[in-house]
Amino acid sequence: MTDKTTSRRGFLHAISAGSVGGAVLGRAQALDAAITGAIGGLHFRADDASAVRRLKEQYFLSRDLIYLNHASIGTAPRPVVDAHAGYLALCESHPSLYVWGSVWREVTERIRAQAAALLRCAADDLAITHNTTEGFNILAHGLPLGAGDEILFSSINHSGAAVPWDVLARDRGFSVRRFDFPVDRGAELTTEEVVALHVDAIRPETRVLVFPHVDNMIGLRHPLKEIAAAAKARGVEFVFVDGAQSVGMIPVDLSASDVDAYAMSPHKWLQSPKGLGLFYVSEALRPRLPRMWHKTAARGMDGTARDYEDYSTRAWPAVVALGDALDFQDALGEQEKNRRYESLWGRLLERVDAEPKLVWRSPREWTSSSVIMAVEVRGASAPSLGTELLDSVGGVVRAFGGSLNALRISPNLMTTEEELDRFMDALVARGV
Ligand SMILES: Cc1ncc(COP(=O)(O)O)c(C=O)c1O
Repeated sequence: MTDKTTSRRGFLHAISAGSVGGAVLGRAQALDAAITGAIGGLHFRADDASAVRRLKEQYFLSRDLIYLNHASIGTAPRPVVDAHAGYLALCESHPSLYVWGSVWREVTERIRAQAAALLRCAADDLAITHNTTEGFNILAHGLPLGAGDEILFSSINHSGAAVPWDVLARDRGFSVRRFDFPVDRGAELTTEEVVALHVDAIRPETRVLVFPHVDNMIGLRHPLKEIAAAAKARGVEFVFVDGAQSVGMIPVDLSASDVDAYAMSPHKWLQSPKGLGLFYVSEALRPRLPRMWHKTAARGMDGTARDYEDYSTRAWPAVVALGDALDFQDALGEQEKNRRYESLWGRLLERVDAEPKLVWRSPREWTSSSVIMAVEVRGASAPSLGTELLDSVGGVVRAFGGSLNALRISPNLMTTEEELDRFMDALVARGV
């Protein structure tokens, strides 16, 4: 576990180094103490209903809603929002110092190290970007590919990790091939089958394989290291992984993996401010992947992943509050988070199995599943049901039509059993 006050201690140090007035420093110290107290007082335990209720109080979610759409957009807890607001006010107190000065550099490095520890990678391998889609744009724009090269991914790949390749293929001459992912067999696929699906689709011209660690439709935990190693053994040169739905929800270990790049959106499961991304680029890939943004030409590339964030003016308050989001999640504890997520998953699976008109469309083993759960109602259109449930009980879910025709239910740690049951009761009552 990292030191819970790491990012904020760096933050105070940065401010005092900026020779600001006593009033600004005093406000910053008060903010620091308040955030430290709030995070330090969480004492979260997965099997303690009162701890879950206390956790729920940390969020701004509307009491009129049953928010089960954390896979689309997460929600930042109060201490992260307060910290973010405090940093914004600080920036406005002396804009040229806090936006252009170097005061945030030290803090940002602490946050980078904190995120790298979570991902089990080196801090030098990690850029702080804006979202997953940006990571895939850097890859698609930068990688030296051309005629005869193929990019391969399955039909379950999200548009953010797919469209940059589709669009650039026309200009650059490479080709994109999608293979069908059998979403309708999501409940029964074995790990071996998932690996084989990817590996069997590889052809001699396939240079890049892209897949999500956790997909956004049925929440399958793709076997990361196994697919990457098997793809490399088959001659694929680059393996790029979409980590939008994994980081913060399931443990991620990029150490000793054959993954070359891993792009993330911490606003989902790490509950950071919106508009922040994390982007892992392996040391081996970096010399072959030029940066997309150029501001400090004189500095040149320093060879680390920091090169990919040469943004000039940026939203520092959000970047600094990412450190508070990491602190918050760290204080909840990886083990307790896992236990809580598994318990919510198990409760929903039990409810679905007990009701003949409902069909569980996600993997049936927790080790290959996640709290992104797809549920079909026999004979009903999922998109229409989604609208009805919003109107009737304020249930917010994502609905997929097409061959999946399922509601995607994605709760979070603070979702109570009562909320989940209320939503399921309404679903059963509405289903035909
Ligand atoms: C699996 C997956 N990949 C990529 C994205 C795109 O994320 P962003 O819009 O933050 O770039 C999403 C967003 O929902 C997603 O679910």
